[in-house]
Amino acid sequence: MTTPVTTRERLTGLSRSPGSAKHGEGTCASGLEPDKKSACMSRRAFLFGSGAIIGGTVILTNIPGMEGEAVAAEIAGYPRQLIGRLSKLKVGKPVSFRYPDKGRNSNSILVKLGAPAGGGIGPDADVVAFNTLCPHMGGLLQATFKPKDQAIGPCPLHQTTFDLTRHGMVIAGHATESLPQVLLELEGDKIWAVGMIGLIYGRYDNLKS
Ligand code: FES
Repeated sequence: MTTPVTTRERLTGLSRSPGSAKHGEGTCASGLEPDKKSACMSRRAFLFGSGAIIGGTVILTNIPGMEGEAVAAEIAGYPRQLIGRLSKLKVGKPVSFRYPDKGRNSNSILVKLGAPAGGGIGPDADVVAFNTLCPHMGGLLQATFKPKDQAIGPCPLHQTTFDLTRHGMVIAGHATESLPQVLLELEGDKIWAVGMIGLIYGRYDNLKS
């Protein structure tokens, strides 16, 4: 039987298929099952890995150009959090939530854009979620959402505007990083936050202040 592919797997390349790595193990880009002596993982898998270890450490070996050396890598495990219901969303009306925790700078919005978007879920692939602190210097973006443009901004500090249909890419302004996007999964009518793309402003790790 074919295992359904989740949003996170589609966006990150992580796989739950038989023979793939279990939580906390390395993930081989080649699809080869990692053995116990060596953990190999792609950069994307490293960045978005959903291992059960939070703040834990794994040892990576067999890294090209670093023969014989082992490198400690920290794996972030993101909580799976129910943040809304598809049937309750209205086009252009954002709903606030906090993710990946209740800590500093975790304010985010869930919004149905009315146009297909990168990472979008739902029948129209238009439901997305983003952190609302500007990645440049932390300007508050929540009140600047523009439903007609499917964009957020301009930032009150230095005028950056972000395209929510393109993973929060900068349209114009001082910011050089995209707005951090919350990875979503749909289960029936329930919308779950399951991870992040990009670093939240003011943190050195999304899961630590
Ligand atoms: S803080 Fe938003 S553009 Fe500078």
